[in-house]
Amino acid sequence: MGLNLLSIHNLRNIESAKIEPSARLNILVGANGSGKTSVLEAIYLLGRGKSFRSAYSRRIVNYNHPSLTVFGKAETKSGLFNSLGIQISDGRFRAKLNGKFEQKSSTLASIIPLLFISPDGDKLIKGSPRQRRRFIDWGLFHVEHDFLFAWQRYNRVLLQRNAILRQKSAAMLVSWDEQLIEAALKLDHFRVNYVDKLTHLAQKFMQQLLGIENVEFSYQSGWRRGEAFKNALKASIESDIRLGFTQKGPHRADLVMKIDGRAAAEYLSGGQQKLAACSLLLAQASVFNQCKQESCVILVDDLPSELDLQHRQLFMDLLYSIGGQVFVTATDSNLLQLTAYPENKTFHVERGGVIAEREDGV
Ligand SMILES: Nc1ncnc2c1ncn2[C@@H]1O[C@H](COP(=O)(O)OP(=O)(O)OP(=O)(O)O)[C@@H](O)[C@H]1O
Ligand SMILES: [Mg+2]
Repeated sequence: MGLNLLSIHNLRNIESAKIEPSARLNILVGANGSGKTSVLEAIYLLGRGKSFRSAYSRRIVNYNHPSLTVFGKAETKSGLFNSLGIQISDGRFRAKLNGKFEQKSSTLASIIPLLFISPDGDKLIKGSPRQRRRFIDWGLFHVEHDFLFAWQRYNRVLLQRNAILRQKSAAMLVSWDEQLIEAALKLDHFRVNYVDKLTHLAQKFMQQLLGIENVEFSYQSGWRRGEAFKNALKASIESDIRLGFTQKGPHRADLVMKIDGRAAAEYLSGGQQKLAACSLLLAQASVFNQCKQESCVILVDDLPSELDLQHRQLFMDLLYSIGGQVFVTATDSNLLQLTAYPENKTFHVERGGVIAEREDGV
């Protein structure tokens, strides 16, 4: 699984580019401002139906052109091809899958499952619980068929309950609470099982990348451990009504990482936090690959320049060993020692164009 062909027109400074990526490792090299991140942004648009940089799609379109297009051909597990096209014109986003308009970003995500490792990836460690919940849910969405439905249902019921709380009508809460409890327990069950698999691997990768062994992960469901959700909800009902929102539940869940009993964000240095976040993301890619018997596409923006030589190489070794297609950007190809990775292609990004610079191996 991965992209066999990528063509980009008028996305930021990239006016026209067409590449045939390697099925394994692709390095995008170029000076600052040359358009490397923009190439990753194009791939991300295909897989997620949105940008990781701008909430306003109009800003992604080249200033001198009215619209942008990104086209990709992706191989399936069974050797067939899906063609994906994205167009942004007059601020309107349109996606086509195999020639037909596609409205759902979840469909795009299942065609090209993407993981993005960004320079600010350490947010996963030091950022808010919301980031970690989104991270867990992304993984679940891809490996558990019924997860999306369970997630949507919980959020729908939660919205309804919050609306009733704001009306201060306690009597109406009873039936919504029953539905909320059922949906919450389903969601929690998915997450607990997934986190177990994920953290097992993340611990192993932390050891490989950082040499740290005593990492502990604990998943917090969004209410007190050991307490039945039903009781947690009941106990907070009065303050929920006063505040006008539901305080307990899976929407408050978190994944806590501790080393030697201390919070990871406190214990680890900046570079180590990036590597810890990478361990989690690569664990997620690995769980995906194992569960689906196919590989997700991993985008890594600028990471090599932030790590020392030894950690950079350890990271690249692990990244390559996970399998699947990878795109890494770097300002200098000398930052990466590529001889250890037989299937690689290097692309030179220059003034808005992308040129295949070298092709090694298979
Ligand atoms: N809508 C747009 N139209 C034209 N150019 C744009 C637009 N938006 C951004 N740019 C320019 O595109 C260029 C490429 O940006 P990009 O972030 O992809 O570069 P990069 O190679 O990743 O740089 P760095 O190494 O600094 O991360 C920048 O110079 C930016 O000013
Ligand atoms: Mg960049």
